Amino acid sequence: MVCLGNICRSPLAHGILEDMLDTNRFEVQSSGTGAWHVGNKPDPRSIEVAAKYNIDITHQRAKQFSTYDYEIYDYIFVMDKSNYKDVIKLAKTPQEIEKVSLILESTHPGQDKEVPDPYYGGKNGFKHGIRCYIKPVRKL
Ligand code: 4NP
Repeated sequence: MVCLGNICRSPLAHGILEDMLDTNRFEVQSSGTGAWHVGNKPDPRSIEVAAKYNIDITHQRAKQFSTYDYEIYDYIFVMDKSNYKDVIKLAKTPQEIEKVSLILESTHPGQDKEVPDPYYGGKNGFKHGIRCYIKPVRKL
């Protein structure tokens, strides 16, 4: 799960997907295309909204997306088109590019729908964000 800072959107998406999968069989990770928050906990607003759904994301620490992630993961879900552009810049093969998709593509095919960046907004952006993910993650 990839966003810009890896402190707001992708930690929520990461937490929800991990909560729904058998973690003995699947590895879930999240990262940001930017490095500003590397090593930091998720934003308190993400922690709060996740906790309302009984999902604990406090153990997560931000990391930056790297070319190595292409080697480890089968699917790379990005939150918006800007993340998509930044992530595919690091791909070395067409097969790697094929791993990348907008997370909302599964629920809104062909619409290029994005999860809006909630960082500079109020808490509502986070509530909206968590609703955005629950549906697509359940469909995966
Ligand atoms: P995220 O939100 O990409 O959902 O983690 C952001 C977090 C931090 C910044 C931008 C977006 N920032 O500019 O520091």
